[in-house]
Amino acid sequence: MPVTDQTTALAQEIHKRRTFAIISHPDAGKTTLTEKLLLFGGGIREAGAVKSNKIKKTATSDFMEIEKQRGISVATAVMTFEYQGRLINILDTPGHKDFAEDTYRTLTAVDSVILVVDCVKGVEEQTEKLMQVCRMRNTPVIIFVNKLDREGKRPLELMDELVEKLNIEVRPLSWPIGMGMHFRGVYNLHEQNVYLFRPGKTVIEDERLLVNGLSDPKLNAELPSHAAALREEVELVDGVYEPFDIEDYRAGRVAPVFFGSALNNFGVRELLETFLEIAPTPAPRETDTRLVAPHEEKFSGFIFKIHANLDPRHRDRIAFLRVCSGTFRRDKAFLHVRHGKQMRFSTPYNFMAQRKTVVDEAYPGDVIGLYDRGDLKIGDTLTEGETYTFQGIPSFSPEIFKELVSTDPMRTKQLDKGIRELTEEGVAQLFVQEVGRRKIVGTVGELQFEVIRYRLEHEYGASCRLEGLPYSRACWITAETPAILREFTKFRERQIGYDKDENPVYFAETEWMLRSTIDAHPQITFHFTSEFTTQRR
Ligand code: G4P
Repeated sequence: MPVTDQTTALAQEIHKRRTFAIISHPDAGKTTLTEKLLLFGGGIREAGAVKSNKIKKTATSDFMEIEKQRGISVATAVMTFEYQGRLINILDTPGHKDFAEDTYRTLTAVDSVILVVDCVKGVEEQTEKLMQVCRMRNTPVIIFVNKLDREGKRPLELMDELVEKLNIEVRPLSWPIGMGMHFRGVYNLHEQNVYLFRPGKTVIEDERLLVNGLSDPKLNAELPSHAAALREEVELVDGVYEPFDIEDYRAGRVAPVFFGSALNNFGVRELLETFLEIAPTPAPRETDTRLVAPHEEKFSGFIFKIHANLDPRHRDRIAFLRVCSGTFRRDKAFLHVRHGKQMRFSTPYNFMAQRKTVVDEAYPGDVIGLYDRGDLKIGDTLTEGETYTFQGIPSFSPEIFKELVSTDPMRTKQLDKGIRELTEEGVAQLFVQEVGRRKIVGTVGELQFEVIRYRLEHEYGASCRLEGLPYSRACWITAETPAILREFTKFRERQIGYDKDENPVYFAETEWMLRSTIDAHPQITFHFTSEFTTQRR
């Protein structure tokens, strides 16, 4: 193909793609919404198909069951479907909060996010955390307020809560008419139409009541007990919130808000169609040397997730790569920047409609699975020859810390190898203290410790004990000069560890202790993610 044709073909592929994640506090309705979106795209034919991917709440103590379910989730790590000429990649995120770090990392590979909030519970803890990660990268966010068929918080109250707790401006694009038993539908502020809710209806088409704005007498006839309140509320909404501006949304400053009921498939089409209209196509990405645009002819991408095979007879892993520029081609040699060596992939996978198929080509915005025998690590960059590293794939501050103690001195080497490999996969983070080379494992959930102990024993034949430590926060620390840093770390040996790249990390027992240390040492900078270590040179 001549070069100009190739460039146009690539531009068309990029233009088609929308890569995003659906995030929520567990139980808000992420799985249900994902499933309904897939139904629109014909990605699945029946409801319930996505459920198998969900880590059931009842199984929280049975982590083998969870791992089994995570195994299933490999097939659905990304769900691709086509709708109205667009190719949509939904990146799956684990529902269980103990796997939150997996979710944080997945957010580095998307171009936008749909956040699901339960109208009964409002903004929950996990939602706040996930949103902080989106805010770090100014990821555009659309909010879907779910479960309107239940009696929930008042919509205006919910709006205030979103602004306050999520630290983002909002702009409702639809407005609910009633709620719970009295939920009648939504008024679409953009189309100035009413969508009527018929409970229990599972058809894909929402019923539209064509009205000519709020003054249309049809409103009174169809919704006699709601019309007046609706007019009043919409007037208020229009007065309080700025008109919707797509640029503000794309810059991550304003989140448009929709209302609906995923279970009843209500408001989902409206959400999907607006999403396709406003959500960004694959964006340029920052590296340590320059900005890489998706339209560049040469391929580049980065690894954001690694999934290990738990079966000890098959030690292969699948590394998930997000394509950032150019075209990925099967069997073509690409540069593994960290190792400085060429790699070819003969069986790269994509995931269409829950089937794994070998792909010959992939484009910016796509996520593919690469078989790996231990060469790839989270954050690794692959290119067509240029040496740069993608930014924005940080480690996040863990919340639970335990000391790793070998209980079999004859197998210390296996233990070291095992914990190194598991931390490379992103199961946990490892910090080593200078004194006694004490190894501290940090995670965001208790469950990971069970996973680690089990896997060390079964895959590496190494037995260990994980002893609780009193820390609850860890911050990467930097200072203007090495001398200042040394002065700070000198008398705090038990409070300092070093991460996999030898960066110093400060451990605090309480939030209060951390705050007072930060206040007392203005010459030290405390970082809540490891991002600073890979800033532009
Ligand atoms: P998650 O992935 O965010 O954890 O949530 P999920 O979709 O699994 O939904 C959690 C529960 O909320 C499910 O009920 C689901 O059916 C219900 N749900 C989702 N959307 C709506 C909605 O619009 N209205 C109402 N009333 N419920 C909704 P469950 O009983 O936990 O599971 P299941 O037995 O239905 O599978």
